[in-house]
Amino acid sequence: MAVRELRLSVIIGGQRYTVEAESFARGSYGSVHKAVRPDEPGSVFAVKIVQRAHVTTDSYRRHVRRENAACSCVPLHPNIVASYGSYEIYNGWENDAYYLAMEYAQGETLLDYANRRRRVPEDEVRPIFRQAVAALHHVHRAGFAHRDVTLPNFVLAPGGHLKLLDFGLSERLCPTGAHFTDFPGTALYASPQICAGIAYNGRGADLWALGVVLFCLVANRFPFHGECVSTLSRCILDTPPNFAGLGDISAQLRSLLGGMLEKHPSRRITLSQVEQHDWLRTAVPTAPVDCPVYLPAATAVSAQDLGSATSARGSSSSTMEQAEQQAAQIQRCSTDILRA
Ligand SMILES: Nc1ncnc2c1ncn2[C@@H]1O[C@H](COP(=O)(O)OP(=O)(O)OP(=O)(O)O)[C@@H](O)[C@H]1O
Ligand SMILES: [Mg+2]
Repeated sequence: MAVRELRLSVIIGGQRYTVEAESFARGSYGSVHKAVRPDEPGSVFAVKIVQRAHVTTDSYRRHVRRENAACSCVPLHPNIVASYGSYEIYNGWENDAYYLAMEYAQGETLLDYANRRRRVPEDEVRPIFRQAVAALHHVHRAGFAHRDVTLPNFVLAPGGHLKLLDFGLSERLCPTGAHFTDFPGTALYASPQICAGIAYNGRGADLWALGVVLFCLVANRFPFHGECVSTLSRCILDTPPNFAGLGDISAQLRSLLGGMLEKHPSRRITLSQVEQHDWLRTAVPTAPVDCPVYLPAATAVSAQDLGSATSARGSSSSTMEQAEQQAAQIQRCSTDILRA
């Protein structure tokens, strides 16, 4: 029997999912699998499986706590992957595992899209970016910082509909405005305050990371470079974003990127200002989108016969992907703020 034909059966959020054993994508924590539900014939879902054996126990527990909190508290939004419940096997042993049932976002990640398209024309980036801003604004309004705003954490459908995913590093924003002191995200997207090792504002750091995403889409490279976390941090702290070779981008886009990648947090523009920025206001409105609404059932019931499923998505060898992987490897397991 071909590997793809193997199936796992699991009940998540009161619904039975039949999950493909082979994953179609992987992150640093989990493998992501397609799944179907008998009550929704013809629909495809995604199930992320995080196995304790594959990460440190501390990062596993934090990931589960964070993803659970955000997935149950951030209301549905057309530009955020909907989650339909989670299930955890917990017995304190190596086979502890966490299952998150989600809407399946069809398409490719923004990393794959950027690699495939090379430098994306401004007019094409604009409607995509507008959706990214809407998604992040929604997360912040719900009281969370995402803290992992990266190219691979957006999926773009062939029709142009964008979805933000992966809340495994998110944290609640403190109403008193207190700042975060840990940074578990990817170094390439870290803001100067994170690199300086000082407490940082979650909204401002997410906005900086979104500026990095925008830069990558129009430039096909990251705005800051370094051979290791230390030199990358120095570059983020001391060097202006590298606009070299981007002479043909509009003055409006350059001003938006400059505002988002402003090193001083109090001078950085806000998400509301991004939304009102001239470059975005000229955007063609995106088409109305279908937002499937399946409310998670109140209780998780049981899981059956769950094995491991760990095949990886093929990786491209592009410079941006290599930079992503290198930074993730160096950075991922650290919970300390980066220090230059
Ligand atoms: N609901 C979904 N629909 C479609 N693809 C998805 C979905 N969830 C995740 N993916 C794919 O799986 C990849 C890994 O998922 P995710 O980012 O949630 O895992 P992770 O282990 O937390 O990753 P990270 O390395 O960013 O911490 C994503 O980059 C994306 O390609
Ligand atoms: Mg991810």
